[in-house]
Amino acid sequence: MEAAIARNGKKLREKLRASSRDVVTVTEKPAAKVRDYESHIFVCTGGDCKKRGAKDTRKALKDGLRSEGMLGEVRVDTVECLGLCKHGPNVLVYDETDPKGTWYLGLDEDEVQEVVEQHLKWGEPVERLAAERRPRKTKKTRK
Ligand code: FES
Repeated sequence: MEAAIARNGKKLREKLRASSRDVVTVTEKPAAKVRDYESHIFVCTGGDCKKRGAKDTRKALKDGLRSEGMLGEVRVDTVECLGLCKHGPNVLVYDETDPKGTWYLGLDEDEVQEVVEQHLKWGEPVERLAAERRPRKTKKTRK
């Protein structure tokens, strides 16, 4: 019995060695390239934000970017939920002004142009519309 286990173990080790030689290490980057956008915007179009006018906010954003000639510099995507549903329509902007992103909660279509001009065009987040950050909850440690 022990001899059989030893034989099987030896065969298994040989198979593993052989298969590890077939492993290919991929070091090349993906062929596709991503445009170097100035800003990346996520507009929530989930159910609650949609009910509160997310479609109009998104349209105003695209129209504003188009009128400023910035459609090629700013990428606008939609997301299903940003987790702050009761405050919608919500928009999250990532750019060099804040690596954590600027959150615009309850951004109505009539406020969008201010964001386009002040934040996206001139790099100054609109403080009166941007959500404040609250401190992260810290985990309790056991003693
Ligand atoms: S549906 Fe927009 S944040 Fe949840």
